[in-house]
Amino acid sequence: SDPDQLQDFCVADLNVTTTFLNGFPCKPVSQVSSSDFFFSGMTKEGNTNNIFGVGVTPGNVLSFPGLNTLGLSMNRVDYAPGGVNPLHSHPRATEAGVIIKGKVLVGFISTTNVFYSKVLKAGEMFVIPKGLVHFQKNVGKGKAVTITSFNSQLPGAAILPVTLFASNPPIPNEILATNFQVDETVITSIKSKFGSS
Ligand code: GLV
Ligand code: MN
Repeated sequence: SDPDQLQDFCVADLNVTTTFLNGFPCKPVSQVSSSDFFFSGMTKEGNTNNIFGVGVTPGNVLSFPGLNTLGLSMNRVDYAPGGVNPLHSHPRATEAGVIIKGKVLVGFISTTNVFYSKVLKAGEMFVIPKGLVHFQKNVGKGKAVTITSFNSQLPGAAILPVTLFASNPPIPNEILATNFQVDETVITSIKSKFGSS
């Protein structure tokens, strides 16, 4: 859903700080080479040693500047056994994904609050409509891997537990307590899990 490009390519120069536009400025074609159009970042397993048991390796314009203006990107997501890619949404892209390894529960919630979900195995594909809240969970015995793709060079991710309980500065406890209809002590307890108060 990014705008269409106006030339073959526009390999991002991420270091230009004097020009501001929607996307990144292009480096001169004379400096563009084959290496700008290939990315090896997804060959390695992501680090799943965290509270969610998930490792996301983005292949977006920031890690792979050749994607600039081309309107798409991908992620590799590794899951420890039981690992969860936490509830999140992408403000700028629809997501299509495929299970590479393992057994993964994929779910999203529509804006009419209908929950759609399915357990998928290697080779099976899913789609998450733009902006909707979704998650993946490794429900198999071993590790799992998914590859996801996005119709944006930089889809963005609002990761709900982090957005709500680990923002900087923090959302006032009173606001969260009212939203979730719990005592503020519950909110401080949740915030403490994310190293925030
Ligand atoms: C999975 O939901 C991803 O955003 O890569
Ligand atoms: Mn996603």
